[in-house]
Amino acid sequence: MVRICALGAASQDVFLSGHEIVSTKDESGALVEAFPLGAKINIENAVFNTGGGATNAAVTFARQRIEASFIGKIGHDAAGVAVMSELDNDHVDTSGVLYDPTLGTQYSTVLLANTGERSILIYRGAAHTHTAKDYEDVDFSQYDWLYVSSFAGAMDALDVIFTRAKELGIKIAFNPGQGELDEIDRLRPLLEDVDVLLVNKDEAKLIVEGESSEELARHGTNLVPVVVISDGPNGVTATDGKTIIEAGMYEDVPVVDRTGAGDAFGSGFVSQWSQGKSLKDSIVFASANSTSVVRSIGAKTGILDYGVTLHDMPITEKAF
Ligand SMILES: Nc1ncnc2c1ncn2[C@@H]1O[C@H](COP(=O)(O)OP(=O)(O)OP(=O)(O)O)[C@@H](O)[C@H]1O
Ligand SMILES: [Mg+2]
Repeated sequence: MVRICALGAASQDVFLSGHEIVSTKDESGALVEAFPLGAKINIENAVFNTGGGATNAAVTFARQRIEASFIGKIGHDAAGVAVMSELDNDHVDTSGVLYDPTLGTQYSTVLLANTGERSILIYRGAAHTHTAKDYEDVDFSQYDWLYVSSFAGAMDALDVIFTRAKELGIKIAFNPGQGELDEIDRLRPLLEDVDVLLVNKDEAKLIVEGESSEELARHGTNLVPVVVISDGPNGVTATDGKTIIEAGMYEDVPVVDRTGAGDAFGSGFVSQWSQGKSLKDSIVFASANSTSVVRSIGAKTGILDYGVTLHDMPITEKAF
């Protein structure tokens, strides 16, 4: 059985929606969710859930019967209890969770518009304070893969984790967060240790030159062996340096809440690739997993169960 540890953020998310939360345009034409100060805004639906990229990924792994662990930072509070309880329910090992002595667990208030887009009020708390010291004594030897997602720009912590993993021969899948992408000069050397890089198209453009996803993916193989670039409803490009895959939409579904789409996609890919599945099969599962997640509220709601039947999707594979 493959053993994967997901590292990064954990949070409690509350999703608020109702007909008074709407997407409008400001004077410049930008889409906004705006509320008059002092008003009471009625909410018709309040859904509590947990999120944070690493916990979402860990749940995908666990549901695919991978031995899944989560390591990240939470606080001693009710939100932390909620995070732990959801992970326990999905049989994710949380014995390595780190507690911040003073800060609370990351907490997001998601204001969901009827388009599936949203504004998020985010308290990062404990998920923002990773230090190198936090990870120096972690025993990674029990894992085959690390799935590393948003670390809030804690590059010193990532240096320690990646170096330890490589010493131990552990593979690394990396879905860098905005904080890491903002530190591009420190991110580049980290990529030397990465086996699978998972980014969306805009993120790919921050790392390599190129316009089209194919160009970006090809250039990406100069840095890492496997590059996967998603582009929302426009599809996916992936390459392992041997073949290159272009895929379209798995299913044209009504998007209810796109929170967790990227996590479901990235972890969906790694859940298959780590078990020796083909590039194509891994992309189909990743697409199915993320499509399922955007259909309902919450980053974990919709994550596919083991053995679910998949259908074909528009996908082509050619020699690199
Ligand atoms: N509007 C949509 N309709 C259908 N599927 C979608 C839509 N948006 C995202 N997906 C699915 O989710 C996958 C990942 O989405 P995307 O490329 O937007 O990732 P991302 O930008 O990393 O997302 P996130 O903001 O969650 O990090 C897509 O490849 C697709 O399968
Ligand atoms: Mg993403």
